[in-house]
Amino acid sequence: MRQSQTREQLWAVIRNWRRARFRIALVPTMGNLHDGHLALVAAAHEHADRVVTSIYVNPTQFDDGEDFERYPRTLEEDQGLLEAAGCDLLFIPDDQTVYPYGLGDATRLTAAPSLANILEGACRPGHFDGVVTVVARLFSLVAPDVAVFGEKDYQQLLVIRRLVEDLGYPLQIVPVATVRGVRGLALSSRNRYLDDAQRAAAEQLNSVLSAAAGRVAVAPADWPAVEQEARELLEQRGLRVDYVAVRRAADLAAPEAGDRELRVLAAAWSGSTRLIDNHVCKPV
Ligand code: PAJ
Repeated sequence: MRQSQTREQLWAVIRNWRRARFRIALVPTMGNLHDGHLALVAAAHEHADRVVTSIYVNPTQFDDGEDFERYPRTLEEDQGLLEAAGCDLLFIPDDQTVYPYGLGDATRLTAAPSLANILEGACRPGHFDGVVTVVARLFSLVAPDVAVFGEKDYQQLLVIRRLVEDLGYPLQIVPVATVRGVRGLALSSRNRYLDDAQRAAAEQLNSVLSAAAGRVAVAPADWPAVEQEARELLEQRGLRVDYVAVRRAADLAAPEAGDRELRVLAAAWSGSTRLIDNHVCKPV
């Protein structure tokens, strides 16, 4: 596996691959990799000849009070995992490479408000602006044919799909289903902060959302009651809920009669760890 830190190092490799007419996939990550990330790398291989994984903990998508400083950085382990997964190039830019004029004078993007200011965006103002700002830079630097994102961050996936359409990037977005642990907890870099009791509470998120999705599938008009009951169940089981929402899968608008695909999305705290998850729901 090759590795590059600067734009020049990156471009030297990409230029050769382009000359060879290779199709290039990009898997953007913030590192501390687990099987969820590796599923993205595997999907990338199915859609391209060469796979670039980026690791960059992006400061512009964290709030002031958020966990930017304590975000786990485990580069050596990540390198080993990516090597074993057959990643062709690891791009590990520093701040200077991503934001050459510094954070104070960076060109920034604003994510589409209808998608970005609700749910996660309402809890974490400016978060998706930071996400699109960095992802657009990665798209410009790598110029991939394909970019792979996880459904675990479903709202992020929609925000990025919109970014690609709106700005006209000539690339394909490939979504990958959420990878879960044995008891259904969606794998996340933040799970490492959970003690046993908090982990047990966290595992309720998947079971409650999956049951809620099952109920909405048979009685879609009942979605407001399902939201309310899921919230109560989660609170009873020891989680502090930020939101539970049943939304239309395509645009996160409120469900309407006749919608073919919905998503049940939630964010909740187990101790001081914030978890998000979602389940698909197809009304029968
Ligand atoms: P990060 O949280 O590291 O996630 C990188 C990618 O892995 C995202 O597309 C995310 O949805 C996916 N992912 C994480 N856990 C997953 C799981 N259990 N199953 C499937 N996919 C999973 O998301 C980010 O980084 C950043 O916002 C980023 C897009 C890199 C921009 O900074």
